[in-house]
Amino acid sequence: MKVLAIETSCDETAVSIINAFGSIGDAEFHVEGNALYSQTAIHEQFGGVYPTMAKREHAQNLAPLIQAALAEAEMLIDNPTPLTDEEREMIQTILKREEVLAIKLGNLLERIEKPPIHAIAVTRGPGLEPALWVGLNAAKVLSIIWNVPLIPTNHLEGHLVSSLAQKIDDKSYRLQHFDFPTLALVVSGGHTELVHMADWHSYEILGATRDDAVGEAFDKVARMLELPYPGGPHITRLAANAREEELQLPVKFPRPMQNSDDYDFSFSGLKTAVMYALKEWKKEYGEELSDDAVKMFAREFEEAALDVLIAKAKKALETYGAKTLVIGGGVSASKTLRLVFGNLIKKRFPDVTLAIAESAIATDNAIMIGMAGAMRAQDAMRPEGVEHLRADGNLKLG
Ligand code: KG4
Ligand code: ZN
Repeated sequence: MKVLAIETSCDETAVSIINAFGSIGDAEFHVEGNALYSQTAIHEQFGGVYPTMAKREHAQNLAPLIQAALAEAEMLIDNPTPLTDEEREMIQTILKREEVLAIKLGNLLERIEKPPIHAIAVTRGPGLEPALWVGLNAAKVLSIIWNVPLIPTNHLEGHLVSSLAQKIDDKSYRLQHFDFPTLALVVSGGHTELVHMADWHSYEILGATRDDAVGEAFDKVARMLELPYPGGPHITRLAANAREEELQLPVKFPRPMQNSDDYDFSFSGLKTAVMYALKEWKKEYGEELSDDAVKMFAREFEEAALDVLIAKAKKALETYGAKTLVIGGGVSASKTLRLVFGNLIKKRFPDVTLAIAESAIATDNAIMIGMAGAMRAQDAMRPEGVEHLRADGNLKLG
């Protein structure tokens, strides 16, 4: 089945066209088209994502990205046919809060033929609600005009499915062989969760962060160190430099809840510890941080965060006898995370399969939404029913 997928949950606007075939445990995905626009340069000046700005940017860029993905998939066929008054009115109603998108999408739809797709998958949540609504409303319009079903998709499920997919070649992925029960660790900018999966689409949340998500802590600490947004990749790179150069901070940061008797996390205290340590450091060595100091702070922070993630995953693997550990979300793009989890599995759980997304699809993208959506084809909504579908910023795995 061919799925057009849309992702706008945070600061990446992304559209993909995925051809999915095979059965649920044995699926293959061919990426026919993929277009992504990252807003990081815009949010950089604020040191984080600014929801109204994100929404505006999604609305500006979504129609051109749909066009680009269709063109790459050779599905962009010019055939000017004016929209009916009824269709125009429907677009105005659904996209009343996204005026620019209404115009751009209307123009595109008037110009082209219905592409040969079988469904539209769209991120319904979790994420920033103003941002989610843009993609969701655009997806509703496409579903109605093209008369194709709509598959509301969970962003976190997208991360997990894409982590279970192995790259076959430049444009193809295949679900790797793995067994249940599976333990899933979500590490993104908005979420830190440990989840038990007894089967496909069966989730039991074992624990989650009580305050900041791990990616959020990376980004906030990066900001304290005056590194650009998003800070995760910078922290990881500088921490690796510190290890190579054997630079180590003389103080140790706390590993919050590392030995607590549950699967919850807390990263806010770690962030505060970094802030106080930085203050002390500046008192002693002056306001201007040296490059070496930044590297040492990055290293000690990253090691503290990873120690906690490792400790909790290890405890859950032991308790639940999981056969697979799947890690998904932007922080899993970290080479160090891959290395430390690789070592844990190799040394302590040699029978467990470790699955982490290809780095190209570890951070937000629409390929993962197309994959997860295709595997949820049974939940597809008929176009007549989509108009009142709501975005859900707090959508849970389930
Ligand atoms: O999944 P994601 O792209 O967006 C959300 O769903 O939140 O995750 C974004 C998070 C950011 O906090 C970013 O700093 C972090 O992932 N991140 C990384 C790396 N690449 C992205 N953290 C550590 N190392 C990386 N290479
Ligand atoms: Zn994400």
